[in-house]
Amino acid sequence: MAETHALPFPWHSFDLRSRFLPEGWQQEILEVARVSAEDKYLVPSYATSREADSESQIPVHTVDGVTIAEELPWLYSLYRQQLRDMAQTLTREEVTTATDVRTGLTLNVQRGSQERYECHVDWNPLSGLLYVTDHPRGSGGELLVSNRGDVHSCEEVDADCTRIYPVAGHALFFDGRYHSHYVNALRNEEDVRVVLAMNFYTASHPEKNRPESLDRHLGLLP
Ligand SMILES: [Fe+2]
Repeated sequence: MAETHALPFPWHSFDLRSRFLPEGWQQEILEVARVSAEDKYLVPSYATSREADSESQIPVHTVDGVTIAEELPWLYSLYRQQLRDMAQTLTREEVTTATDVRTGLTLNVQRGSQERYECHVDWNPLSGLLYVTDHPRGSGGELLVSNRGDVHSCEEVDADCTRIYPVAGHALFFDGRYHSHYVNALRNEEDVRVVLAMNFYTASHPEKNRPESLDRHLGLLP
């Protein structure tokens, strides 16, 4: 039985559209996503997975951190500086970015109406998302986060959840370790959802403790 939390899931959001994002930022990222996204399958059998069927295969497309740093150096720099500074507002502990670019940031690309992102909890004490595409209410692609804490399927998340609708240029920060979450399928077959997912660390949850097996599960390490 999942723990019942008195309050809904909290998250923090910053609007970067009139600051920090260079002219043409969205098209530039979308082009890298179009050209460089690799096809992978997640098998949600890892300790942080929260799928009802741990044998299923979930298709995902990702652009790795090395490619992001090479193709979009301004975005990598944004992660290490201004986005880190935003994450810092959430905790008294010093927030750091990943020294291993492969596991620090990823572009997640979701195409068409048959894909979604696995139900899981985060390992990192602080996660960041920078939305590249807009997905208003009714169009799918929202992030669903359990208000009841750590639950074990999409259906259990759905039963009591916070729905976060992606707005291009908005950055989100949250502690996703104790609230199961997943990304809904898109409604329209033509739609593409792109988000920059970022990992941050603190002194009590440093990068060196992050299990390599998790990054292999996510396809970030070979
Ligand atoms: Fe997550």
